[in-house]
Amino acid sequence: MGDRKELLLDEVMKYHQDKSRFQSFVPGVSEIWPSGAVLDADDRAALVEAALELRIAAGAKAQVFESRFARKLGVRKAHLTNSGSSANLLALSALTSPTLEEHALRPGDEVVTVAAGFPTTVNPIVQNGLVPVFVDVELGTYNTTPERVAAAIGPKTRAIMLAHTLGNPYQASEMAELAEERGLFLVEDNCDAVGSTYRGRATGGFGDLATVSFYPAHHLTMGEGGCVLTANLSLARVVESMRDWGRDCWCAPGESDTCRKRFACQMGDLPAGYDHKYIYSHVGYNLKTTDLQAALGLSQLSKLDYFTSVRRRNWRRLRHALDGAPHLILPEATPGSDPSWFGFAVTVEPGAPFARRELIRFLEDRKIGTRQMFAGNLIRQPAYQGVRYRVAGDLTASDVITEQSFWVGVYPGLSDEMVDYVAASLNEFVRAR
Ligand SMILES: Cc1ncc(COP(=O)(O)O)c(C=O)c1O
Repeated sequence: MGDRKELLLDEVMKYHQDKSRFQSFVPGVSEIWPSGAVLDADDRAALVEAALELRIAAGAKAQVFESRFARKLGVRKAHLTNSGSSANLLALSALTSPTLEEHALRPGDEVVTVAAGFPTTVNPIVQNGLVPVFVDVELGTYNTTPERVAAAIGPKTRAIMLAHTLGNPYQASEMAELAEERGLFLVEDNCDAVGSTYRGRATGGFGDLATVSFYPAHHLTMGEGGCVLTANLSLARVVESMRDWGRDCWCAPGESDTCRKRFACQMGDLPAGYDHKYIYSHVGYNLKTTDLQAALGLSQLSKLDYFTSVRRRNWRRLRHALDGAPHLILPEATPGSDPSWFGFAVTVEPGAPFARRELIRFLEDRKIGTRQMFAGNLIRQPAYQGVRYRVAGDLTASDVITEQSFWVGVYPGLSDEMVDYVAASLNEFVRAR
């Protein structure tokens, strides 16, 4: 049986080689994607092996991934989820747990976040009946600052939830200190920043909770997937409960009576001895991943340092080639950080002799993929027209981002030739005007 599996996996490796014949890059003809999964023969074999073992639900592979990933990012606990958005929902919802007693967030409490970002950093705030307080960001870093957040804190503010924009860390130590001083929770949306550091520490370890996405555009992929990280074991228990239907029981799949009180506890108004497997201490969901996804994640995880180094190299190459390009605001790393970049942000200076759409059209005609800075100023999006929120200060930069910004790729699937072509195209367009 073992031999047959080896043979099959050997064939899978050969199949992978057949499928991935080298294709030379033809400028203007070959697609330059802004992001994408970089999958090799080991990834394909890992998926097939998990399929051969019929690992169709969450199990041993998911647990191994969770412990390795937590160790890699320097936190105590990682809980896999089916997406980064689900991870955000779980992280924020965990702060409403009755187990936090007087510290629990309650409907009407405020959470400070940025206006220009990804919608599912903000949606869990709305979903939990909390009120987002929008602050502006800085052009160049595309992050907000502790000063802006501090100025936004009001009597009902209980938490801060912020993403590291396009992989560029915000001032995470200062933000964590601010949260601590003011008695607020900090949730770090680390979906775009795996591998980034701030003051030498990995992002994802500064907040009470942090989240990760494993969607193909991200630093590691499982196809679909995400993760909640925390160093706080009580919060980890809440996250696990809410992820796993809201149950109080923490038995791993296939196990029973880990707590040794399966039929010996009484909770809520239930009869004494009610099976602990079916006692629900939270209003939860099922947001788990499968072992198939975790198998791919484990194979990808072994390449994280390589992926991160290529992202940094591609970003630096673009940044260097574009230095001094007129009419463009180029991206800047937050001082003290070493970003594992998600993308390369470009803002067309307001007043430039061309419109953003003309530059984007020029690039897209050359098969250079561009993306908006996610939702732009969220409060201008149709979904948020009826939502209750507060705005602290002005949202000038968020509006500039909505109207003038976009990003191009730096992901490890891009060759030097591709990166050089992107830079040359941008330079050609802006220098001719
Ligand atoms: C900052 C940020 N947060 C959350 C998400 C959501 O992740 P997912 O697509 O896995 O739900 C994304 C997705 O790209 C993101 O960029």
